[in-house]
Order: sequence, then structure tokens, then C-alpha cells
Amino acid sequence: MKAVVINEYGNNDVINLIERDIPQPAAGEILVKVYTAGVNPVDWRIRSGAGARFGLTLPIPLGSEIAGVVEKLGDSVSGFKPGDAVYGKIRTGGFAEYAIAQVEDVALKPQQLDYIQAAAIPLAALTAWQGMFDSGKLTSGQRILITGASGGVGSLAVQLAKAKGAYVIGTASGRNKSFVEQLGVDEFVDYTGEKLADKVSDVDLVFDTVGGETYLQAFSVLKAGGYFVTAVEFPTEEQRNTYGDHLARVFCKSDPDDLAAISALVDSQQLVPHIATVLPLSEVKQALELSETRRTRGKIVLQIAADQN
Ligand SMILES: NC(=O)c1ccc[n+]([C@@H]2O[C@H](COP(=O)([O-])OP(=O)(O)OC[C@H]3O[C@@H](n4cnc5c(N)ncnc54)[C@H](OP(=O)(O)O)[C@@H]3O)[C@@H](O)[C@H]2O)c1
Repeated sequence: MKAVVINEYGNNDVINLIERDIPQPAAGEILVKVYTAGVNPVDWRIRSGAGARFGLTLPIPLGSEIAGVVEKLGDSVSGFKPGDAVYGKIRTGGFAEYAIAQVEDVALKPQQLDYIQAAAIPLAALTAWQGMFDSGKLTSGQRILITGASGGVGSLAVQLAKAKGAYVIGTASGRNKSFVEQLGVDEFVDYTGEKLADKVSDVDLVFDTVGGETYLQAFSVLKAGGYFVTAVEFPTEEQRNTYGDHLARVFCKSDPDDLAAISALVDSQQLVPHIATVLPLSEVKQALELSETRRTRGKIVLQIAADQN
């Protein structure tokens, strides 16, 4: 089978599209025939050297977000059968014709999504879900600021926060204003022309998907006692001392209950993925290059096999 693997860290020159054996599922694992894979910043972050931070050792097969069909079950796997259409966040190895998922990594693909749409959801939506609802304790009626509201995570975060009944303020550049408004934000801030502190105050939760200066500036709009969750930065010791457990970095993890709740919102059409570009597996370098621009609207998806259902 074809798979994308790095043998060393670096730029796109270290990306190899190779032939390798189809992996076999161990107990508790599922072999998935991958139709589509979502591209995420974590892919080029791992390629650039962050593998060890994720507990990975070289050589590393890339790709953590897949949609496809169950090919084979390992021992003691229940709840799935060969032929089931599934989607999920896996540890790694999703940019390949077949990938291994732990049983808790995947859920049945929502029927109304095609495979391209399905590959745009699991990792990004789990990050938003766990960041806003678990770490950020978002409840109905609260005010939330979402930075990077037009990105892979942000575009789903906006819809999840609206579905929760929150008042949502989203940031992006002006070219994404109407896109972010269509996602449902109550207020839009163009970070290229407007100062956050002039436009926003007293939010119950900041959910930051941008980091850097944006992360630092967003502290000024948080109300006393509010929560601040970042998907990007590692809070400093001083920040942790100041905010305690009201400041957190989310680490997206597989969770079948969270994924089932996300699927239910897809089923009720409260969560719709947005696709920036679809590229074949052979153009994985271009996909990573695009992601690295940090200007994508919604998700980049790799088409690995055609939907044969
Ligand atoms: N911790 C975790 O578990 C976890 C999980 C998933 C993702 N992440 C991290 O979360 C971040 C976002 O991921 P993603 O997949 O959403 O990335 P993405 O899709 O690449 O985000 C791109 C979007 O960010 C917007 N953007 C760029 N700079 C901005 C700024 N200064 N202010 C507001 N918006 C800005 C862009 O809008 P414009 O074009 O309008 O600028 C673009 O639409 C990444 O750093 C990723 O590594 C972490």
C-alpha cells in the first residue's frame, strides 16, 4: 500500500510517499481502508520536529484524521464490522491506503456526510469540543471569543458554541468576514484592521486557535473569573500562577462519547464541515505547504481512494 512516512525531521523534502505492507490490527484495533484524510497543522509540526512531543519516534507515518471503511477487526473488538463506514482521529499513519485505529478512535460516519466532508471533522471538532466544553466549561448564554474562527478548528468551534447557545465573537481577516458570519457568529472582529481590546470585553471564555500575539492580546478581553483555553500555546509558569485552572492548553484526544455527541450535531445539521481544497495523496507536499500558510478557510482533505459504496 502507499503511505506517507518521514525518516527524519525537516521541511517538505523529508516527505516520502512509499510502498509498505498493509498493517495488521492487534487486539483492540481496527484496520481501516482510508478513503480520505484531513490535513492538520499537527502534520507539518510533526514533520518539522515535534514528533517526540507527541511520543513518536522516527520513522513516523503521518496523518491523524481519517474517513474510510472497516477492513478487518483485531481480537476483542466489538461494535464494528467489516464494511462499516467510519471516521475518527488516530494517533498517526492516516496518510495511507490503510491505517490502524484503536477501537475508541473511530465512530460510524454520519450518513449525510460524504467521505471528504467526514475527514474534515474528527480531530478538529474534538479539539474544539474538549477545549470549549471540558477545559473551558462553556454553557448556554455565555460569551465566547474564538480566535481563528475561519480555520479548521475555529470554523467548527463557532458552530459547536452556537449549538450550545453561547454568544459567539469570532476573529479572522476581512476576506473571511461573510464566511464566519454564515457560520453563525454574533460579532466579527477583523484582526487586520481592528484592535481586539477596542471591540471586545468581558468574555466568559477565550478559545484561542491562533497563538502568538493574538493569544497574548486576548487576555485583555477575559472577564474576571473567566476561562482561557488555547489550542496552540503552552502557558508560562507566570500565566499559570495568575489564572490557575482557568487557563489551559487543550490536547485533543480520542473519545468515543465526544465523537458520538459531535456526530449527533452533524446528523441534526448543526455542524457542517467546510472544505478548502481536496488533493490526491500524491500531492501531500502541496497540502502541507498550503496548511503551513495558516490562511486556509476550513479544511484541506487528501483523497486517497474513491468512495466505492
Ligand atoms: N492542541 C491540540 O490538540 C490541537 C488540535 C488541533 C489544532 N491545534 C492547533 O490549533 C491551531 C489551529 O488549527 P487549525 O487546523 O484551525 O489551523 P488552520 O485551519 O490552518 O487555521 C487557519 C485560519 O487561521 C486564521 N488566522 C490566521 N492568523 C490569524 C490571526 N492572527 N487571527 C485570527 N485568525 C487568524 C486564518 O484566517 P485568515 O486567512 O482570515 O487570516 C485561517 O482561516 C494550529 O496551531 C494547530 O496546531 C491544536
